[in-house]
Amino acid sequence: MSDKATLEINGQKHEFPLITGTENEVAIDVKTLRGATGGVVTIDPGYKNTGSCESGITFLNGEEGILRYRGYAIEDLAEKADFLEVAYLLIFGELPTKEELEKFHSDIKSHAVVDDDVKKILDAFPKAAHPMGVLSSLTSALTAFNPTSVNVDSEEDMYNAIVRILGKFPVLVAWTMRKKLGQPLNYGSTSLGYVENVLQMMFKRPDEDYTQNEILVNALDKLLILHADHEQNCSTSTVRIVGSSHAGLFASLSAGISALWGPLHGGANQAVLEMLEAIKEDGGDTKKYMAKAKDKEDPFRLMGFGHRVYKNFDPRARIIKVAADEVLGDLGVEDPILDIAKGLEQEALNDEYFVKRKLYPNVDFYSGIIYRAMGIPVEMFTVMFALGRLPGWIAQWREMRLRKEPIGRPRQIYTGENHRPFKTLDQR
Ligand code: SDX
Repeated sequence: MSDKATLEINGQKHEFPLITGTENEVAIDVKTLRGATGGVVTIDPGYKNTGSCESGITFLNGEEGILRYRGYAIEDLAEKADFLEVAYLLIFGELPTKEELEKFHSDIKSHAVVDDDVKKILDAFPKAAHPMGVLSSLTSALTAFNPTSVNVDSEEDMYNAIVRILGKFPVLVAWTMRKKLGQPLNYGSTSLGYVENVLQMMFKRPDEDYTQNEILVNALDKLLILHADHEQNCSTSTVRIVGSSHAGLFASLSAGISALWGPLHGGANQAVLEMLEAIKEDGGDTKKYMAKAKDKEDPFRLMGFGHRVYKNFDPRARIIKVAADEVLGDLGVEDPILDIAKGLEQEALNDEYFVKRKLYPNVDFYSGIIYRAMGIPVEMFTVMFALGRLPGWIAQWREMRLRKEPIGRPRQIYTGENHRPFKTLDQR
């Protein structure tokens, strides 16, 4: 493979270096393009062919359905690690020793109390507010209660900001659900594990003791691991570009939550359940929805299907599909929605439209079935996605800041009006 790319523009040849990553991915380094060519830039709506950065955190191979966090296969991590270990791995680059993990968890717990005044912001929201909008607002509000900006030149300062948000975010997640359900807010307990603590804050009734259910703990732990990072997806790219202006960590995360909310991204897990419910109400008529998904005149898409990178199976969807059977079986839950989902998947996998476009179930297709079996309201599904993605967002923000990457500021090609003289009111 040559180490250069040659571009010929108006008869003039320009050479640009090729960058090859540790998994042999190749990029044309166009950092000097505009200067070398007198103003020519690239354009790539949706960045389908454009890398925004070099990163050592997550590797995806969409053709082979590979996903690795810091070199470890997602299948191994989902099976053998717990969420806090994976969070540490993503953020600091190595699986923690027992001592490192204990200190990490202890430091997180020391920051797990949210300023009581945050409740006044929560109270101001109508109960009908979507939890993702509430969560994004409360996360941004944390900046007001933790005003010291993060000095990225200080490892200690970075670490303190990271354990602070890992401690407080689960509280905000639980509070958004309790607000939606009109239930009193719970506080966590430092005697519990990270995931147990989340479940207790979400589900403990004020008039009863809460008994942990290992099935729910293990299911949520696995789901959070599977959602923890996914290289330069829409919300992570948002966190990186907002962070590149040196806006704080909490403000950058708040922006990422808003990006994740969209139904084309993390909001799909809610949209999948609403779609499957509609199909069920329609008598299970999957063919009607398949036809709608293929109809170019119809804006409907088969939610939970397709992916920008995976043009084969999404390894996370495969793991979650198996987990859905296990969790519903262990909980003794019969959910016809799961059968509708499996039927829809089989139809799509044998339909020329989907096969030709390489559309397969993605991470959002089956996850909501488990969340629902766990008793989590459908409007909270994307909030659970955000809880899982938090360590990935933090890891990517930290990498970007430590590498002192420049502020993100894409160019454009102007296609509007050329210069024209001003028209006074009576001339219009
Ligand atoms: C996530 O990027 C990440 O890594 C994201 C994520 C993560 O972990 O961060 O993996 C999480 O966001 C998963 C995706 C969740 N979204 C959905 O399930 C929504 C439904 N899916 C689509 O909207 C779509 O597949 C996207 C947005 C996920 C990807 O869209 P692309 O890459 O921009 O592909 P495209 O829109 O150019 O589609 C290519 C073709 C088009 O048809 P043609 O114009 O070629 O005829 O495929 C069609 C699309 O119309 N198509 C679909 C479809 N997805 C794509 N047709 C019907 N149903 C779908 N779901």
